[in-house]
Amino acid sequence: MKLGIIGAGMVGSAAAFSCVMRGAASRIVLVDLNEARARAEAEDIAHAVPFGAAVQIDAGTYADLSGAGVVILACGVSQKPGETRLELLSRNAKVFGTVVAEVTRHAPDAILLVASNPVDIMGQVTQALSGLPKARVIGSGTILDTARFRWLLGRHLGIAPRSVHAYVLGEHGDSEVLAWSAARAGSVSLESFAAQMRSPLTDAARTEIDAGVRRAAYTIIKGKGATWYGIGAGLARIVAAISADEQAVLTVSTVSDVLGVKDVACSLPRVVGREGVSAELMPDLSRPEQEALATSAGLLKDSFDKLGL
Ligand code: 2OP
Repeated sequence: MKLGIIGAGMVGSAAAFSCVMRGAASRIVLVDLNEARARAEAEDIAHAVPFGAAVQIDAGTYADLSGAGVVILACGVSQKPGETRLELLSRNAKVFGTVVAEVTRHAPDAILLVASNPVDIMGQVTQALSGLPKARVIGSGTILDTARFRWLLGRHLGIAPRSVHAYVLGEHGDSEVLAWSAARAGSVSLESFAAQMRSPLTDAARTEIDAGVRRAAYTIIKGKGATWYGIGAGLARIVAAISADEQAVLTVSTVSDVLGVKDVACSLPRVVGREGVSAELMPDLSRPEQEALATSAGLLKDSFDKLGL
C-alpha cells in the first residue's frame, strides 16, 4: 500500500520512520512545502530500510500521492510551550483549506489520517472540507493518550503495557477521559489485579497516573519543544491496521454521535481496517465517566461549530 505523508516535520517524519520499521506500507511519499527538508528526511529514513522492512521512501509532490491508500496529514503548526491544543485551531484550519483540496484531487480513494492538532477538530474540518464519508477520515485522537495510560498502568502494576487493556476517550486534550472503570490487566479488573498481586492502586497512584497521561504533552514540550516518537508510532499502528485490514480496536477520532452530542469528532474504541472505521464501541463507564465524556464531546462540538464551516 502506498502511504502519503503531508508534513515532513518531526511528527510526519517519526510516522514515516515507524512505518518503515514495522513495514506498515510498501511505499511512502513525503510531501512538504520545504522540499529540501522532505528530501533530507526521506533520505535519512531510507538509510534505516536495511534494518527495517522493504519499504520504498521518497520525497514528492501532491501529484505523487496518486494511488495512495492512506494519506497522513501532519502539516501545520504545533503547540508552543504552555499553549493548549485548542488554541492552535484557527491557525491550522487555514492551512488545511489548501492541503485537503490538493490531497483529495490527487488521491481521491485514500483514507485520510489526521495528526495535526487540535486533532479531533482538525479531523472534523478535514471531513467537512473533503466531503469524504465519515468512516474514511480518521483522527489519531487519543491513540497516544491510550498508549500513555497503558504504559503508566503497566509500569505501576509491574506488567507489560500490551497486557493492559485501558482506553482514554473523548478529546485528545485537556478534557480527555481515562476510562478507569473499563480498564483490565490481563482479563481482570484493576481492583482484582491489585488485590491478587498485593500492589494496591491507591487514589494517590490513580491521581498521579491521570496527571501523567493528561499532562504528558505539556511536560515533554517544556523539555524538548514538541512530541513525536509516541505519536509517530501510534500513526504507524493505525496505518498497519488499515493496510492489513486488521479490524483492530483502536481509540481514534471520527465524526459520530456521542452520548447525545450530534456530529462530533472525538475518540472511542473503534474498529479499523481497509475501509477505515467500520464500527465503534462504547465501553462500560461509570456515571461520572459518562458525564465527563459528554462534556468533552460537547466542548469539541462547540469549538467546531464556532468555525462556521
Ligand atoms: C501530544 O499529545 C502534542 O498532541 C501532542 O503529544
